[in-house]
Amino acid sequence: MNGPGKETLRVLVVGGAGYIGSFVTHQLAEQGFEVLVFDNLSTGHREAIPPGIPFIQGDLADAKGLRSLFQENSFLAVMHFSARALVGESMENPLLYYRSNVAYTINLLDAMVGARVPFFIFSSSAAVFGAPETVPIPESHPLRPVNPYGHTKAMVEQILQDLSHRGALSFVSLRYFNAAGASRDGNRGEDHCPETHLIPRVIRSALHGDADPLEIYGTDYPTPDGTCIRDYIHVEDLARAHLLALQYLSDGGPSTCFNLGNGRGYSVREVVGAVERVVGRSVPIVEGPRRPGDPPILVASSERIRRTLGWAPEYPEIERIVETAYRWHSTHPSGYAGEADT
Ligand code: UFG
Repeated sequence: MNGPGKETLRVLVVGGAGYIGSFVTHQLAEQGFEVLVFDNLSTGHREAIPPGIPFIQGDLADAKGLRSLFQENSFLAVMHFSARALVGESMENPLLYYRSNVAYTINLLDAMVGARVPFFIFSSSAAVFGAPETVPIPESHPLRPVNPYGHTKAMVEQILQDLSHRGALSFVSLRYFNAAGASRDGNRGEDHCPETHLIPRVIRSALHGDADPLEIYGTDYPTPDGTCIRDYIHVEDLARAHLLALQYLSDGGPSTCFNLGNGRGYSVREVVGAVERVVGRSVPIVEGPRRPGDPPILVASSERIRRTLGWAPEYPEIERIVETAYRWHSTHPSGYAGEADT
């Protein structure tokens, strides 16, 4: 289980063509795991999957197809990245979110439990906490989601606990804070359509100038500079936590949840400042109203994952995270779609 040269163990990566799933797939492949990627490519990119990794274009809506997949293959673990993840969209269309993130996850779990696959690693979110009472947020903080997206993640955590109590599987749920950044060489990164996330948007504004200013969503928050504070975690650091979680489960660790962030918050204005320093240009800004559903401050307590899994970030500084993102966005202005030209 300790990497290349030893027995190769099969991991099913659901959503492995997406931003975070593809980084985990790369790390698993580098560590000598045998990986199968399953993705419907609705938001993911075929080009994000490492060459040579087996890929099935399938959909979690297809419960029968999932059962066949698990009958035909033997997996040690399932990592589940596939989900809709836009808070605003979840408020507009809750059923879409409950269906995609809960009902389809039940299809996956049903097939997996039927095939007695022992380990499940789940992409949860800081959104399970809603507007936190205390920061940094420990795992023990009450779960009070404030939007359907957060509810879907909390519901799946509950389902996993129930399955785990029954002895059907062991799971680790990783509650991501703000994933950001790109590979060190700048050849793999974030490619969402539409792009709603702060760091790619600030970089875009830095590159395009006055034609495409950054709108800051709210400047009257109860924070030192009036803008929201978030805990940005580099996607490679986030990915590494999944491999450590798999090792933990393989070593017999009990089912649990971990918050996954750097433990340090940066305001929107601080992120803008970091981008200006990295890119060497000023970022045009428009101060806009608050975006509904944005808590003022979300910062993880990362104590538990550091202590239990020995996880530590290689990119604790916002500027280093932004540097990798800038390298990717500046060399891949059309994301993976421009792959053939690069
Ligand atoms: N922001 C702006 N302008 C923008 C984009 C973002 O001011 O153009 C602000 C947001 O208001 C927020 C911060 O920048 O304060 C970060 O916003 P992101 O959209 O990058 O990230 P969120 O914190 O909103 O979202 C993260 C994850 C989501 C998840 C959500 C749950 O990226 O997938 O946390 O809280 F749903």
